[in-house]
Parts: sequence; C-alpha cells; structure tokens
Amino acid sequence: MAHTVPDISLNDGNTIPQLGFGVYQIEPKDTAAAVSRALEIGYRHIDTAEMYGNEAEVGAAIRTSGLDRGEVFVTSKLNNGFHRPEDARKAFESTLSALKMDHIDLFLIHWPLPTRYDGDFVSTWKALEEFRRDGRARSIGVSNFQVPHLERLAAEADVVPAVNQIEVHPYLTNEQVRAYGDAHNILTEAWSPIAQGRVLDDPTIVDIAEQVGRTSAQVVLRWHVQRGDIVFPKSTTPKRIEENFRIFDFTLDDTAMERISGLDKGETGRTGPNPDVFDYIPA
Ligand SMILES: NC(=O)c1ccc[n+]([C@@H]2O[C@H](COP(=O)([O-])OP(=O)(O)OC[C@H]3O[C@@H](n4cnc5c(N)ncnc54)[C@H](OP(=O)(O)O)[C@@H]3O)[C@@H](O)[C@H]2O)c1
Repeated sequence: MAHTVPDISLNDGNTIPQLGFGVYQIEPKDTAAAVSRALEIGYRHIDTAEMYGNEAEVGAAIRTSGLDRGEVFVTSKLNNGFHRPEDARKAFESTLSALKMDHIDLFLIHWPLPTRYDGDFVSTWKALEEFRRDGRARSIGVSNFQVPHLERLAAEADVVPAVNQIEVHPYLTNEQVRAYGDAHNILTEAWSPIAQGRVLDDPTIVDIAEQVGRTSAQVVLRWHVQRGDIVFPKSTTPKRIEENFRIFDFTLDDTAMERISGLDKGETGRTGPNPDVFDYIPA
C-alpha cells in the first residue's frame, strides 16, 4: 500500500514505525488535537518527553482515538533533573501515570549531561535497564549521546541502547554518531528532521522538490527514511501533518540523496545545543 509506514526491528526484537509524530513545543492545550489528527491520518508512533509538559495530553489523545494501546508506539524521555537512580525511578512512574499507561514502548535518557552528576550517566542507564527488566519499558535507549558516551555504556553496562535520538538534518548529517550506531546495532532517530523549517528554502532542496514534484519537507523526510533513520516531524498545522506522512510513495535517486547529504555544515549546522556541554536542568 502506498502510504504504509515500515516497521523497523530494534536490537531487542521489538519493532518501531519508522515515521512518527513529534510533540516538542506543542502547547499542552493544543496537543490532544494535534495527536488526534496525526492518529486519524495514520501515524502510529508518538514522540514525547517529560520536558515537553504534554505527556498527559498525548495519553488522552491515544485513549480517545479508539485504537488499541498496542497499535500505537509511544516514546518518552527522562528529564535532566532526574538522573540519580532513585529520582529516575520516580520520574519514570510519573511518566507512566501522566500517560495513564502501564508500560511505555520506548524510554530514553533525554540528554547525557556529561558535566553534571559527576559525569555518571551509567547509573542512570542502569535504572532504565531495571524498567526494561520489569517490562514497564518495552525498549530503552538514549538521546543526544556522542560516541564517547556510547562507548562508555558499552564498557560499563549490560544493555545496548535500542536507539540514539540525535539531531540530524541536511545541515547536520551527524555521520560519525550515526556510523557508531550502525556498527553497534543502535538505530538512529533523527530529531528536528527538517531543522525546524530552516532547510526548506535551501536552493538544492527546492530544486530536487521541483524535480520530483513534492514539497521540500517531503523530500527531506524521504532522504532520512532512505538513509534508514527514524523520524517524527512536528507540526500543529493539519495540512502539514498530512503532507509529512505522504513520503512512502516516491523515491529519491542516488544523485538527489548525495546532493542533500552534501549540504552538511558540520557543527555550525546545529540548531540545538551541543550535547558535550549542554547542562540545562529545568527549575
Ligand atoms: N531528543 C531531543 O533532544 C529532541 C530535541 C528536539 C526535538 N526532538 C523531537 O523531534 C521532533 C521533531 O523536531 P522539532 O519539533 O524540533 O522540529 P521539526 O520537526 O524539524 O520542525 C518542526 C517545525 O517545522 C514546521 N513544519 C512541519 N512540517 C512542515 C511542512 N511540511 N512544511 C513547512 N513547515 C513545516 C512546524 O511548523 P507548524 O507546527 O507551525 O506547522 C515547526 O515549526 C520533536 O517534536 C521531538 O519529538 C527531540
């Protein structure tokens, strides 16, 4: 079928829909409507976080959708103030209770915070391993981990993260971290996949969009999925929520793929903070 979203296998045997819907910067009052619209269109994967303040509204929209819980893949993330294992346990329970769910499909450490907590994200990760063991988190992963952070988990922990959710888009292709993931069976999830809109007017992308008769956003999202990454674009605009879903009925040829990858600006292409130094803890 033209618009079927592929399921990708995680290293723990579970599967994840390659395209989802992200809810960062969606106001709680607007979240249920946006998620409901996404579910109507066919999205079956929602990416939220305690930090976004809208887990309760995500859970409510899923409950009222008429879909079975098992049909929707839900991700949330541990907020930065809760890295100590005893705090992580409480925060995880709060996430489940805000979502009104007895389990979550994927739970991530949101940021490594290497300059906080004496650089100890390993004991935080071991708390997530507990959640996976007791079945309340079907899969566990990390977000914004750089290669040395992943190497440290490999040396000191038991479970290999199922995913690493990192900033990736045409201006920051983040190849080194992606390559580590490829080599170690950690799937890359590309956050801010259209760089919050910044890449959409790029002349190369506009040119390719004209050639294939698609929008810039569709071309960029298609580039991600052909690279094998998982994406969850955010929009509160119903037409865009639908447009972003329609990326499985065309392909980009190798030349187009290479032209888009060639837009990489390295570190200067980042739209978000550098994970090596980001140390924000919400008040
Ligand atoms: N782990 C992390 O640290 C982290 C960090 C950032 C994001 N994320 C996750 O990644 C998700 C996506 O990233 P993001 O929200 O930062 O940015 P994004 O998805 O790259 O871009 C969202 C922005 O692009 C606009 N947009 C969406 N579709 C469009 C289209 N078809 N045409 C034109 N404009 C369009 C949206 O506007 P409207 O809403 O006005 O339509 C919004 O301003 C987040 O929601 C979150 O789940 C994770």
